[in-house]
Amino acid sequence: MKIVVIGGSGLIGSKLVGKLREQGHEAVAASPNSGVNSITGDGLTEALKGASVVVDVTNSPSWEDAAVMTFFETSTRNLLSYGAAAGVKHHVALSVVGTERLLASGFFRAKMAQENLIKASSIPYTIIRATQFFEFVKGIADFSTEGNKIRLPTALIQPMAADDVASAVGRVATGAPVNGTVEVGGPEKFRLDELVRQFLAARKDPREVVPDPLALYYGVKLGENTLLPGDGAPLGERRFEDCLSLSSSQILPTKPLTTAVAAASNQSSGLHK
Ligand SMILES: NC(=O)c1ccc[n+]([C@@H]2O[C@H](COP(=O)([O-])OP(=O)(O)OC[C@H]3O[C@@H](n4cnc5c(N)ncnc54)[C@H](OP(=O)(O)O)[C@@H]3O)[C@@H](O)[C@H]2O)c1
Repeated sequence: MKIVVIGGSGLIGSKLVGKLREQGHEAVAASPNSGVNSITGDGLTEALKGASVVVDVTNSPSWEDAAVMTFFETSTRNLLSYGAAAGVKHHVALSVVGTERLLASGFFRAKMAQENLIKASSIPYTIIRATQFFEFVKGIADFSTEGNKIRLPTALIQPMAADDVASAVGRVATGAPVNGTVEVGGPEKFRLDELVRQFLAARKDPREVVPDPLALYYGVKLGENTLLPGDGAPLGERRFEDCLSLSSSQILPTKPLTTAVAAASNQSSGLHK
């Protein structure tokens, strides 16, 4: 089966392409680096020729409110229209657990817009919503740092390894479309402040985590369960503690994420003030 992974050079995309190829599928890693651009449309017709499945694991280079909305709306519209023209049978997109509860953030409004465009299209689809990646924890810490302190809410979070996210997306991509949304989460729940504290301790990072019920998460006031998947969501196998013992290069965020966090932080959600 030919499966085109848009964003195939990213954190999840590159792992996904490897897993699909191991299973014997013709997996194409498509991104601007390989001449395929979902914003301009460059390379899309060629890449999608003969494809059964399109998997969208792109991310916006900027998380500034207007930029991220333009990115996900334009990219999704293009992928759906080029996909329909190519006769794609299944459109799969990776989104985030709790997106509809996080709409105070421009990033999540853009992810919601992406989901709604997919639901309204004529192509059979599956939206897979994952919880926060372990690899994203450093980004959460950096985003919320003021001086030597990191103020974080104490809400629950159930993060998962990017490797497990890629496996879950792979299962969805090789299965039948559900024309709906499925969730995946990590094997354990943490308090957000405690998760970041464990990460910093493992990295011997001297920053101090301050639990603060008034602190925001990317501009959003969290309830206790805002970030948690629903009951019965399949859970990843890899545990945070085990991943912490990996080399730091394996748990550092990717370059686009760092750029995105910097852009969002310049835009400001109040966390840096
Ligand atoms: N971070 C989390 O905890 C979390 C949790 C749940 C879901 N998600 C979702 O997971 C998805 C993937 O995240 P990730 O961390 O794997 O992303 P990532 O590592 O930042 O990779 C982003 C990918 O998008 C590609 N891309 C950017 N602009 C593009 C364009 N115009 N056309 C085609 N491709 C383009 C990049 O290509 P180049 O390398 O060529 O620039 C790269 O391959 C995101 O949509 C995110 O919302 C994230």
